[in-house]
Amino acid sequence: MIGSSPTEVGRFLEETEARLLELSIEAQQADWVYSTYINPDTEALSARTLARLIGVTVDLAKRSTRWNDAPITPVEARKLRLLRLSLPLIAPSDPSESTELTRLVATMEGKYARGRHVLRGSATELDLQELSHVLQESRDPARLTDAWTGWHSVGRSIRPDFERYVELANRGAREIGFPDMGAMWRSKYDMDPEAFSSEVERLWREVEPLYRSLHAYVRRRLVETYGPDHVDPRGPIPAHFLGNMWAQSWEGIFPILAPPEESLGFDLTRILVDRGTTPTDMVRYAESFFVSLGLDPLPPTFWERSMFVRPRDRDVVCHASAWDLDFADDLRIKMCIEITDEDFRVVHHELGHNYYQRAYAGQPYLFRDSAHDGFHEAVGDTIALSVTPEYLRKIGLLSTALPTGGDIPLLLYRALEKIAFLPFGLVVDRWRWEVFSGGITPAEYNDTWWAMRRTYQGIVPPAARDPEEFDPGAKFHVPANVPYMRYFLAAILQFQFHRALVRAMGSGEPLHRASIYGSKEAGEKLRAMLEMGQSREWPDALEAVTGERTMEARGLLEYFAPLQRWLDSENRKAPVGW
Ligand code: ASP
Ligand code: SER
Ligand code: ZN
Repeated sequence: MIGSSPTEVGRFLEETEARLLELSIEAQQADWVYSTYINPDTEALSARTLARLIGVTVDLAKRSTRWNDAPITPVEARKLRLLRLSLPLIAPSDPSESTELTRLVATMEGKYARGRHVLRGSATELDLQELSHVLQESRDPARLTDAWTGWHSVGRSIRPDFERYVELANRGAREIGFPDMGAMWRSKYDMDPEAFSSEVERLWREVEPLYRSLHAYVRRRLVETYGPDHVDPRGPIPAHFLGNMWAQSWEGIFPILAPPEESLGFDLTRILVDRGTTPTDMVRYAESFFVSLGLDPLPPTFWERSMFVRPRDRDVVCHASAWDLDFADDLRIKMCIEITDEDFRVVHHELGHNYYQRAYAGQPYLFRDSAHDGFHEAVGDTIALSVTPEYLRKIGLLSTALPTGGDIPLLLYRALEKIAFLPFGLVVDRWRWEVFSGGITPAEYNDTWWAMRRTYQGIVPPAARDPEEFDPGAKFHVPANVPYMRYFLAAILQFQFHRALVRAMGSGEPLHRASIYGSKEAGEKLRAMLEMGQSREWPDALEAVTGERTMEARGLLEYFAPLQRWLDSENRKAPVGW
């Protein structure tokens, strides 16, 4: 209906935003209760409210196509575009298929959350956190294999649900005009979905040499620890030796990878534990960083309603997440906080989401999201890059003098977290995109997963995997339907932000030593970007902080430049590649 008046579209959008806000709040409340108290009733309630939200969104998205060629304002056009993209899951309009799909997602997430394994020779069921400790601490190949394999069997039980979910989600995405769900996910970046894939590829090519150098160094050290019978000096690395259930970050085994003559000089986990730090204290540390930038303290309800600790008496989704229940000020995190260096960072990560949510709460409903999803994931991580030894000394966590030696141990530690992550961040959705497009069939699920892990990450499973297994299902975001490319983008963006904010403060320090703690200039720049939400295309938001309009790996490469040189010289002793 071309020529329909602007007032009409204005009215449509106003009603749309009010209706979606109401239904989203309801869906979030139900999902919160489900995630913090898993049982059949909360599962059904959360699935039903999500189905209702999706149903209304699909209906409104279809109605909105009448303005496709109408003369409407750019703001209206952007809102209409975002309406179709406002949810990461779209169901078919058939009500029974819609509830079936949202039930499947809730069921998969529940199965993942309830996963347990009993190690050989033990009588105790271990959950994911406990199995992860084994992977980090044990040096016994048989025990590591047991912990790894035990957890991965959770995937197998998820497989039938996942197959059906792919079918139904694709059907939903097609109803609102996307070729498949993966294409829908790739459409949320203010550019052609194909151009987006090339952007990702371009960024990966820039950081790939650094990854290969790190891989070669780590493999040589693992050969020293486990011997060539366990780790092929020229081949891919077996995933269970890398200290993390998905081999996505390797800092968990820093003790066996540290340069032999040098150490970090401190162990944040030890310090936190020795001081009797509580989970709430961990969150307070993170909050006070944001406050130092000029942002407001979190509201009292945050402290009353968040879940910081795993409850003893019921199943919950322990995977950390940040919530904004009313799209205004009812901010919360849900996390089973452990007193560790890793969780110290994760708490900063989660609060980054909360501060973003609060900053864009002033926007109209359809603009209450990050510039793109990589931005949402990058904010807290950017702050955590400023958790330097000097910062820890400033806030009284480190009392000793800082190690005066070189910076290599610290850079290596950071690289094991950030650089090791890059190809994993890429693989999860490279694989899912192909699954959604039909390029990978159910019979090929597991073999293709490992083929891609081998190609990009240079890792292999502890032993050949039965094609009937479903190892992608053992990674939270797959059963929980959370897109993953955002983490790859965030891993690049956070260094771009860090570099820009450090330079904005007028600091000429090397990037890995610089901290934006206490900088009101940095805080102002960040706030300007956060408040935009997704009211503008993401290059505008990026420009607000960095002055640049494209995502660039330059910040990351500059940060790690001293390590790259060191790795190049170390790698004269060992082959590179697999
Ligand atoms: N830290 C978790 C992860 O990134 C949860 C989150 O994104 O908030 O998966
Ligand atoms: N939080 C994300 C994950 O756990 C990215 O680090 O995979
Ligand atoms: Zn996150």
